[in-house]
Amino acid sequence: MAASLAISGLDAGYGAVRVLHDVSLAVREGETVALLGTNGNGKSTLMKCVLGMVRPSAGSITLGIDGTTHELVGMTTEDIVDLGVGVVPEGRRLFPRLTVTENLLMGGFRRAARTEIARNLAFCFEAFPRLAERRRQLAGSMSGGEQQMLALGRALMTAPRMLLIDEPSVGLAPLLVSRTIEKIKELKDSYRLTVLMAEQNFTQAIRIADRGYVIVHGRIEFEGSSADELNNNELIRQFYLGA
Ligand SMILES: Nc1ncnc2c1ncn2[C@@H]1O[C@H](COP(=O)(O)OP(=O)(O)OP(=O)(O)O)[C@@H](O)[C@H]1O
Ligand SMILES: [Mg+2]
Repeated sequence: MAASLAISGLDAGYGAVRVLHDVSLAVREGETVALLGTNGNGKSTLMKCVLGMVRPSAGSITLGIDGTTHELVGMTTEDIVDLGVGVVPEGRRLFPRLTVTENLLMGGFRRAARTEIARNLAFCFEAFPRLAERRRQLAGSMSGGEQQMLALGRALMTAPRMLLIDEPSVGLAPLLVSRTIEKIKELKDSYRLTVLMAEQNFTQAIRIADRGYVIVHGRIEFEGSSADELNNNELIRQFYLGA
């Protein structure tokens, strides 16, 4: 069974700067939800709030897992990851001077996943044959697309139930963006994950998203209950396509 996430009335920022204003959104079990927005609108800040890296000044974030609801606000990042939240951070944040295998092993620290490290590593290599071929290569010498696969693989090493992915397309050539997005869909289906994905690349994100939210200046300005609804929205046309 996958996990679900509910965010309600979230305010957050940095010092005196308020970035998120009364943000509410939900990701139901087994869904892929896109958080759409261009630069600086608060996507990463929202992801960081879910992970306990930014402390909201108001609101709640609850994770539903196996019939239990956990309030994440106030929990440490380590405890949140322990509950089963995996993360592919913005900019991937790999260890460039460690090998592919070493980077993957760094992802396996979650308590519940520690005993399954060998099995999870085997899953990763099965999901990403390229990582298996390159297991001794230094992460920093991999191509952009390979590094994104490694960041996804590392997140899987925690055997997560919910995956937060912050801008998987960033810095990748169009063909690789497309492949990465398809890979996320494939992983989600085979591991029965629930996915919240922040993206600027609207067209690519809605290829695999069940639904999405548009965040503008830290507020959810539009909620689309299907990819079609997002596609046909005037605000999105203005926001993304300058129409
Ligand atoms: N550590 C920080 N200290 C102060 N301000 C910050 C910090 N991190 C982000 N901000 C500000 O918060 C706002 C939202 O940033 P955030 O990184 O959440 O946007 P984003 O939607 O993820 O953008 P991008 O698509 O460029 O990654 C921006 O104005 C940014 O300058
Ligand atoms: Mg960001």
